[in-house]
Amino acid sequence: MRRAHRLPLLLAFLSAVVWGGALSEFRICAYNVQNFNSKKAANFKVVHTLTRIISRCDIILLQEVTDSDGSAIKKLLSSLNRYSGRYESYHYSSVSSSRMGKSPDDMQKYVFIYRTETVKVTDQYQYPDQKHFVRAPLAVHFHSDTTGIQDFVLVGLHADKDNAVKEMDHLYDVFEKVLTKWNNENVMFLGDFHAGCAHMTQLDKKNIRLFTNTSFSWLIGDKTDTTVTDKTSCAYDRIVVYGRSFLKAITPFSAAVFNYAQQFKLTRTGVLMVSDHFPVEVRLKGSAPLIQATPLLLLIITALHSFL
Ligand SMILES: *[C@@H]1O[C@H](CO)[C@@H](O)[C@H](O)[C@H]1NC(C)=O
Repeated sequence: MRRAHRLPLLLAFLSAVVWGGALSEFRICAYNVQNFNSKKAANFKVVHTLTRIISRCDIILLQEVTDSDGSAIKKLLSSLNRYSGRYESYHYSSVSSSRMGKSPDDMQKYVFIYRTETVKVTDQYQYPDQKHFVRAPLAVHFHSDTTGIQDFVLVGLHADKDNAVKEMDHLYDVFEKVLTKWNNENVMFLGDFHAGCAHMTQLDKKNIRLFTNTSFSWLIGDKTDTTVTDKTSCAYDRIVVYGRSFLKAITPFSAAVFNYAQQFKLTRTGVLMVSDHFPVEVRLKGSAPLIQATPLLLLIITALHSFL
């Protein structure tokens, strides 16, 4: 009689372990925050919404940060750290590129914001080629103990809308550079590539090595709409990974647009105050060694059970 009670309890414990592992998934996000500067950061509602969006992510790449003195990002970070302090035990830090652009009144930088408890920045690399890019990509090498894949590289790009196809194609050269620099082929590209509507047609794909070379997987599909207004439906924002091993470390079908208008029940106007884009995201599987050990554990328990 007593034995019969023990097994369900053990199973409940094991499923809790597995469930816990699933919960510890690692979220990577990319968001074009449309002209994010100190004026925008002075708007309490905007900062509050951004804080809610970012606090879901282990790493987020912000693009179109036009903040000239760093005060807008500083404000956002302090809001995030206050917010996380209230709800969870996470803290956020950031790495930024320099300001780049075609004209002095449109200088933008890339900012990666990340949770210090789950991930570390081990190195960063600003791609030097300003000839092929209006805003040359920023590559960051990360290490995390909580992900199945522990060392990986994220390459951020906000492509110029008039030159998107060429810039996307040149990401292949960035890939080769990054690969030799860090000897790590776990590379992910993310950001607003302007990879849709008039800026990239189906025909353009044959001129983009990230498409023609099948070792690259485009996780956000062409039919996705990453824009906010109903007037446009364009898959501008993308996530692309290189190789089998990175692909295997990703939770299947987790790449998606985060429609926070629905999630946070915001009006279109409330959303457009923040940006004309929605964020995109993907999840990495957790390291959770207990998940892998579960079948063995079950075997041992069953064996013990028959002995008792
Ligand atoms: C795709 O790119 C990888 C990495 O640079 C390379 O090793 C491979 O040969 C390429 N494949 C094709 C079909 O060009």
